[in-house]
Amino acid sequence: MQTIQDYITNHKQRFLNELIELLKIPSVSADPAFNQDVLNTADSVKNSLEKAGCDKVEICETPGYPIVYGEKIIDPNLPTVLVYGHYDVQPADPIDLWDSPPFEPVIKKTETHPDGAIFARGACDDKGQMYMHVKALEYMTKTGNLPCNVKFMIEGEEEVGSESLAWFVPRNKEKLANDVILISDTGMIANNIPSITTGLRGLSYVEVEVTGPNRDLHSGLYGGAVANPINVLTKMIASLHDENKHITIPGFYDKVEELSREERDEMAKAPFSLEDYKNALAIDAVYGEEGFSTNERNSIRPTLDVNGIWGGYTGEGAKTVIASKAYAKISMRLVPNQEWREITELFKNHFESIAPEGVSVKVTPHHGGQGYVTPIDNIAYQAASKAYEATFGVTPIPQRSGGSIPIVALFEEELKSKTILMGFGLNSDAIHSPNEHFGVWNYLKGIETIPYFYKYFTELSK
Ligand code: BES
Ligand code: MN
Ligand code: MN
Repeated sequence: MQTIQDYITNHKQRFLNELIELLKIPSVSADPAFNQDVLNTADSVKNSLEKAGCDKVEICETPGYPIVYGEKIIDPNLPTVLVYGHYDVQPADPIDLWDSPPFEPVIKKTETHPDGAIFARGACDDKGQMYMHVKALEYMTKTGNLPCNVKFMIEGEEEVGSESLAWFVPRNKEKLANDVILISDTGMIANNIPSITTGLRGLSYVEVEVTGPNRDLHSGLYGGAVANPINVLTKMIASLHDENKHITIPGFYDKVEELSREERDEMAKAPFSLEDYKNALAIDAVYGEEGFSTNERNSIRPTLDVNGIWGGYTGEGAKTVIASKAYAKISMRLVPNQEWREITELFKNHFESIAPEGVSVKVTPHHGGQGYVTPIDNIAYQAASKAYEATFGVTPIPQRSGGSIPIVALFEEELKSKTILMGFGLNSDAIHSPNEHFGVWNYLKGIETIPYFYKYFTELSK
């Protein structure tokens, strides 16, 4: 039987070309201008699943963008792996900061990717990583190496909160029944230090609006005599952290899971260079909650960040004005046991309560989701660990990530199955940023590693 290594050698160029075609479609779920492109991407994913050997592939309609479902059931007595991924991408803005157009993929060598990396929006998050699973399936079906059943569920709204998937999953529990959920939508430490993501943070995302006078005012005639909504908003935001960078919202930390000293010591063993970290971001110091390391701050601790803030005059030159309104978008990353709806409520009550006289404040919740921690004492984790050992030659390190895939907690609730997060991206791949890319080596390594997961998971299930 042909090995996956041989299969990749023979089909490498086609694997790359197919991904490049997929990356050319601008499936930006956040912007209605791309509506038709998002739908076309779903069709393209459907076709590729059919070609890769799925017996049944469907475009499942939802109140929003469709979910592409595919399956190959070889024997109901064998285990079933459910693969989840997303075909939508983040907006490409700011486009001027891209070295090449975001939807015209090019392969260029970089310092971290000497074999080249594919530059395009969605290259790593998540089209490239999702497509590794399609190509791994192709290998397994075409060469008689599929050891168990497989289902695919690829959605088009992950980057905007997975609302339609949250609608779809409870209505299709039987169709989606599985023994493990497999996702490649995270990262790993480095190409020679593979890691398995064992945690995702939850999220609460809100928009705030501060309103002062009923119209924009001349800042000379009125300045100093009425509350300026932008001054007020920035002061309110600044007050959300104290001098130790703790979040000041009452009750915010009440349910935060505190890790034991042993767990924190274990975490600290993961290779990490603060110097490299600072150099990669061109910063002279890191910043964050007192008493915690950088890796703890961005994984096991909750945070609050302004994602955007606007109001007043931002055009050319100067305009002397006191704006009537000021706005901000704020995200809170949450950790296990924090309930996102409760945190949203705490934020809303607190933010409204600190509004000074002379303005009114409105808080509008956007979306959110629960954090997730995957256990490592189960066969899914063991199978993944053995798969990395087979292709990287070293045992992967379990590591909690700071990012969020809110739908994962819902999978567990509704489908009662665990998720295993085998991510092949690097932090330096610039997901959500200009010049997003995905290493060619990483793409092919993912395709190589995935079939081993199926093999070991099936063996360990016996
Ligand atoms: N794939 C990312 C999440 C991710 C990336 C997790 C790297 C861990 C490591 C996902 O597409 C994403 O961007 N999620 C959003 C949340 C979503 C509700 C918009 C996020 O984390 O900001
Ligand atoms: Mn993603
Ligand atoms: Mn993303």
